[in-house]
Formats: sequence, C-alpha cells, structure tokens
Amino acid sequence: MPSKPLRIGVLTGGGDCPGINAALRAVTKSLTLQHNAQVVGILDGFQGLVDRNVEPLHYRDVSGILTRGGTILGASNKANPFNYHPRGGADVSAQVVKTYRNLGLDALVAFGGDGTMSIAHRLTDLGIDIVGVPKTIDNDIVGTDHTFGFDTAVSIATEAIDRIHTTAQSHHRVMIIETMGRYSGWIALHAGVASGADVILIPEIEYEAEEVARVCTDRERSGQRFTIVAVAEGAKQKGGDHVVQERGEEYTDSIRLGGISRVLADQLREHLDTSVRTTVLGHMQRGGTPTAYDRNLATAFGTRAAELAANGTTAAMVAIQNDSFTTVPLEEVAEKTRTVPLDDPLLRSGLDVGTSFGVEESEVPATTAPEPRV
Ligand code: F6P
Repeated sequence: MPSKPLRIGVLTGGGDCPGINAALRAVTKSLTLQHNAQVVGILDGFQGLVDRNVEPLHYRDVSGILTRGGTILGASNKANPFNYHPRGGADVSAQVVKTYRNLGLDALVAFGGDGTMSIAHRLTDLGIDIVGVPKTIDNDIVGTDHTFGFDTAVSIATEAIDRIHTTAQSHHRVMIIETMGRYSGWIALHAGVASGADVILIPEIEYEAEEVARVCTDRERSGQRFTIVAVAEGAKQKGGDHVVQERGEEYTDSIRLGGISRVLADQLREHLDTSVRTTVLGHMQRGGTPTAYDRNLATAFGTRAAELAANGTTAAMVAIQNDSFTTVPLEEVAEKTRTVPLDDPLLRSGLDVGTSFGVEESEVPATTAPEPRV
C-alpha cells in the first residue's frame, strides 16, 4: 500500500520583508516536486494555528510570486501563542498543538525573525516539528551571516540617501536619514557606507552629539557645506536611552523604536547654524520587489528547509555561514540578537575612509587587537 504523503505547514511569523514569497514558492515547489508532499499554508502567522485558518498550497498557487513583496499568507507580529493578547496574555500553545495535530501535519516550516525562532523553539518542546527560515530586513538573527530581506532594505535605503545627497548639497544642509534595524546597526552601516554618508550612527557605538556637530562644522570650514548622517533607529547617545515610538504589550516585541533622527536634529541645532532636516525611511525599507540576491537566498533557504522538513529534521534553522549553507539548532538562536561587532570589516573600512561613527576614532577599537611583532 502506498504510504500516506507528508503534510507540511508553512507560516510567516512576525513582520514581513522582501523575499518571503520567493521562499514560500521554493518550499512549496520543492516539497511538491521532490517529496510528493502536501503543503498547507497557515494564514497570518501563528494566528492561523490558533484560529485554524489555513488553505492548501499547490504548485500553481505559488507560480508567479517570486518577485512579489510581502507574503501571500499574511503575517502578524501580535500572535505569540505563549502570550496571546486577544485573550489577555493567555498561553494558548495547547490550542496551537491541537490545530497542528488536527490538520495532520508532519512538520512546520516557519519563516521569521528572532521572535518567531524563539516561539518555534518553545513549540518544539511541545512536540511540534519545526524548521526555521531566517527572514528580516534587520539581519540580526544569531547563527546566520545573512537573512533575506536585508539586501533589499539596504538597496532601498542607499538609493534614498543618494537622492537626499543632491538636495543636501544644493541647500548646504545637514541631512539626517533614519533607517530601521531595531537594536542592530546593519542597515545603517551598509547603506551608509554604500552611499558615502559622512556620519553613521549605530546602536553598537553610543554617539556624542558634540562630536557629530564637530564633523559638520569641520566639513563646513573645509568648504563641504553639507553633511549626510545615516542613523539607525536603535542608535542612542552616550549614557542615554533608546528613542521609543510606541509601546504595546500586544506585540511579540513590545517596543517600537523610532524618532532618534528628530532627537539628534534638536541636539545638533544647539551647536550649528546650518539647517538640519530629517527623513525617516520607515516601512518603505520592507516593501516591494526583492533584489536578485534576496530572491536567490530565499530560494536556497526555502529548498533546504523543504528537504529538512521532509527528512524529519526538527528544532533547526537553515543558515548561511562563511558562504556555506548549514543548519543551527533553534535553541542557539532563540532570545538572542546579532549586533555589529566592532571589528566588522565594513565598519573598519568606513573608519578608514574617514566616516565618523559619532565618537573619536580611538573610541572604536577593533575587538581583536593585532598580534605584537616579535
Ligand atoms: O524587524 C523588522 C522591523 O521593520 C524593524 O526594523 C522595525 O523596528 C520593526 O520591524 C517595525 O515593526 P512594525 O512593522 O510593527 O512597525
């Protein structure tokens, strides 16, 4: 008698990012073609497992979505089954397990950031088999050197800063551009270096407003009558706090960062006569078609996740380390954030070309000191 086909559920946890549809297409096509499996799309992240809101995904359902932004499954960053706010912060994980069993699923593939990986890790302890796929524009997931969505966000932010550059030049202004990224500075660093920002402020290096003002003044004196500042939303002044836009216990991550560009503008105005303007790039960085790099990374992650799920691997996340694909146990990923190390090669290159990181260069030591010559 032929064995029962595998049934694999797929969901998008947390916020969306460019490349999810490409990954969804890869998982679905690969499971269908290579493993003869049935794929069940779970709608709106873990919410769909609480409400049993699902739909079958066939090969034809994912045709034509490779280039589309967003996720055809819908996403939610308010549906943590262990802290479920529609029911007053209740633990509804038993409901999730029940839905998983009733749907006859053999495994789940969960696309997500650190919040989703943490939830996934806890669900594996309850007997759900899960393979995680790292996706986020923030590039802040421990265990993988790249997440899809990041390259697209960096391209969008770079183009925006390039455009602001020309008007800054015309009007002799200090222009501050705020990127997303939560508690890590990857987007600001990569877009800042790519666009030749004069100052890059990231959460990993607490800035001094006087030092940023000094850079603006020095540029002015040397005839460069404008300054471009790329600031990550998680950047903060030395000894200061993160600038919080909104708090909401209903979110998986209760704090929404945002607003540092306006705080910094006010700080600079105390020191400068030059006009200062701010631009918050916001969700523009998360929308639209993914770059070729993100499409390919999403496709590679998706096919690997399909293979792992079909072969019975669980509690693991697909990852890329040193240009090779690998897997990382979910417990090594959960509840952690990957920040920019001070010896990051791009950060060091930024310093070498004279970019300011908001403090004197001597205050940005490479964490690994060079070996003394004997
Ligand atoms: O994690 C992705 C991200 O876009 C962060 O960079 C940002 O801080 C956050 O999500 C914004 O969340 P929301 O979509 O809930 O406003």
